[in-house]
Amino acid sequence: MQQRFSHLLKCQLPVLPLVLLALVPFLNHCVSGSNPEDRFAQSEGLTALALQTPVSNSDQFSFMAVGDTHLKGDTSRIKRILDSGTSRGSEFFVVLGDIVDRGAWDSYAPLKDLLTTEGWWGKFFSVLGNHDIVEDSWTHYKDMFGPNHYSFDAGNSRFLVLDTADGTVGDRQWAWLEAELDKPRPTNTFILSHYMPLVPDVNTYLKLSNSEEAAKMIGLCTRKQVTAVLGGHYHSYTARTLGSTRYIVAGGGGGRTMEPVRSHFYVEVRVNGNTIEEEMIPVE
Ligand SMILES: [Fe+2]
Repeated sequence: MQQRFSHLLKCQLPVLPLVLLALVPFLNHCVSGSNPEDRFAQSEGLTALALQTPVSNSDQFSFMAVGDTHLKGDTSRIKRILDSGTSRGSEFFVVLGDIVDRGAWDSYAPLKDLLTTEGWWGKFFSVLGNHDIVEDSWTHYKDMFGPNHYSFDAGNSRFLVLDTADGTVGDRQWAWLEAELDKPRPTNTFILSHYMPLVPDVNTYLKLSNSEEAAKMIGLCTRKQVTAVLGGHYHSYTARTLGSTRYIVAGGGGGRTMEPVRSHFYVEVRVNGNTIEEEMIPVE
């Protein structure tokens, strides 16, 4: 009996993560109460977040990006991020999904209150994460932040925001993304997505669940010369350049920390003409 159990452990356990990975879209759908196709359709006609005040120098500016703030009502870390960004001259703020831990209305409201009080509403952009679609979170999210996919311009850069909250991009959103990349674009193009096509130098399932889709996105970014893809879901900081595209994982906003960066942080992205550089700024 004991032998059979240890045999089972040895043979079946390594397969378990793969089975769980394959089940991610299904499980997400079960708990979310919304699906990507519905969210895409419901986003049509919604007003997207936009930059209310243009950046001061369109060729040279910086912004803050962080994912996985996992808010449960307490916004004190966001306040410290905003203070740090203000002192360093950041001009807008992007949260890369998993804004709240569970998307109850009273988790989103304190964030909007803080952004408004601190003068950051109008220079804030959100991305939908898997925690933002739990139960009826999507309903609250779209009331407060608008569509699940959208684009905005800041200075010499265009930002394309995706809904990968189910771990996938999906056919309709692919078509939208490709059409956006076919349009005339300014100097730089950024894609913002909760799930990343890759998490550089880390062996993890915490990335797009369909590896073909992930490969397709990397190919598209190379072909269309996307400047950078920023995301979270993996709660750490790791980055790499493939082709001419920078892949930046910035999931340090407040969730359980993961290797290699075991602290909370945000990433400051500095745009200078057609070059960018990023810096991880620890914030406890
Ligand atoms: Fe997260």
